[in-house]
Amino acid sequence: MINISEKIQLKEISVTDSESLFILMKEVYPAAYSHFWEDFGDWYVDSQYSKENIEKELLEENAQYYFVLFKNEIIGNFRIIWDKKLAGFEEKKCVKLHRVYLHSKTHGNGIGKRLLSWLEKEAEKKQYELIWLDAMNEQPQAFEFYKKLGYQYHSHCFLDFELLHDNVRKMSQLYKKLT
Ligand SMILES: CC(C)(COP(=O)(O)OP(=O)(O)OC[C@H]1O[C@@H](n2cnc3c(N)ncnc32)[C@H](O)[C@@H]1OP(=O)(O)O)[C@@H](O)C(=O)NCCC(=O)NCCS
Repeated sequence: MINISEKIQLKEISVTDSESLFILMKEVYPAAYSHFWEDFGDWYVDSQYSKENIEKELLEENAQYYFVLFKNEIIGNFRIIWDKKLAGFEEKKCVKLHRVYLHSKTHGNGIGKRLLSWLEKEAEKKQYELIWLDAMNEQPQAFEFYKKLGYQYHSHCFLDFELLHDNVRKMSQLYKKLT
């Protein structure tokens, strides 16, 4: 268990947690993204949080996958991948924030900010030079959040998932250089 603050902790996810992670994300993901999808995000959650995919992500080298706890309750997930390159910055030591999804009942309490500042400190301790992530352009909540924390635009692409509505396909890569 990692203590981020008195009320916020990270608990490592293990293979035996796959069902709990799936149930959690069945609630957390659609609350933020159901309007992106023709099926309200069912297919996406089922694929990303299937037992097979969770196990695959837990086995990935250099990755860390956590539950986020707030006041001792599991309220989200947080996954980071060390040494994940960002195009154009091949010479830099890069870490990717792969997933951060917090329950809507906890939004706006500074939890996301604390998590990212913890990651920045960890990365700096390990002498990483850059943090990057993918963010959906049509999700202002996430975009404004990253902007506020100093993340900059790097590039973008359009996701080709069949069930995604056409007007929300744009996904940007954002990054922040560490000092
Ligand atoms: C995006 C997310 C991680 C942010 O975490 P959070 O705990 O709600 O955000 P915080 O309370 O730490 O906010 C940090 C700063 O961002 C700002 N911010 C947060 N949401 C915002 C919004 N919708 N619009 C404008 N600014 C916002 C806050 O005002 C705060 O700034 P301040 O410190 O000056 O007050 C969280 O809302 C979430 O999980 N959303 C749903 C899933 C998602 O989209 N995840 C990102 C996938 S890329």
